[in-house]
Amino acid sequence: MPENEQFLEVYLREIGVQTPVSLFASTHAADQPVAALAQPPAAVVEDAPAVSVSDADQASVITSEVSVALADISGGLAELAIKASTCRLCGLSDTRTQVVFGVGNPNADLVFIGEAPGREEDARGEPFVGPAGQLLDRMLAAIGMDRNQVYIMNTIKCRPPNNRDPKADEVQACNLWFEQQLDLLQPKMICLLGRVAAQTVLGTDAPLGSLRERWHDYHGIPVWVTYHPAYLLRSPSQKQKSWQDLQAVVAGFQKLN
Ligand code: URA
Repeated sequence: MPENEQFLEVYLREIGVQTPVSLFASTHAADQPVAALAQPPAAVVEDAPAVSVSDADQASVITSEVSVALADISGGLAELAIKASTCRLCGLSDTRTQVVFGVGNPNADLVFIGEAPGREEDARGEPFVGPAGQLLDRMLAAIGMDRNQVYIMNTIKCRPPNNRDPKADEVQACNLWFEQQLDLLQPKMICLLGRVAAQTVLGTDAPLGSLRERWHDYHGIPVWVTYHPAYLLRSPSQKQKSWQDLQAVVAGFQKLN
């Protein structure tokens, strides 16, 4: 059985869902009862151009300071990654192993944004490669995608010591890279993973629960908020709600077509 299908089976079994939804399926996800939880504002999605996911270039960038293994980067994004790799704008540069810029398809219409690199991400230079990342892979598989079709990044690029929450000055410093990265990516939709990413990107102190199940806006891009996969690993009972979120993302994504 292909790896994706195995992921899908495992993920759906874990969360007790029998019916997968593919982003590329012809049936509309909104027809599924749980996807009706949220409808993107018509104005945001109705006029959006058709979604296209093209093959991405592969690139590996070696800098004098660090080796940044960046799959699927191209052009401006690659240049930005090189610049970011030597960043010393905040104190995290003293404790990081390397800058963790982002991974995936530079032409992706859907971007997932987490909080900050953890220990394994810091070691490998790629976001979401630890246990939470493996669950994210299964979540993607459950909606018929993999990490080469989307783009995955964090609000900040360097690991905070002991995985503490990023501090305001660190977020502010890293915003230089964050904004340029999204400008270059120009996604059609963003999915924020967890409270810290949601509060940081949306500029709010609101709890995660109040940010779920409705569309937000980041510089004109529709944004959906869901649980962080690391939280789901700690609280598996929330996986059903996370599945509802994913289906809402699928439904919104299909309306872009
Ligand atoms: N958690 C995050 O928010 N990002 C990662 O890259 C890994 C774990």
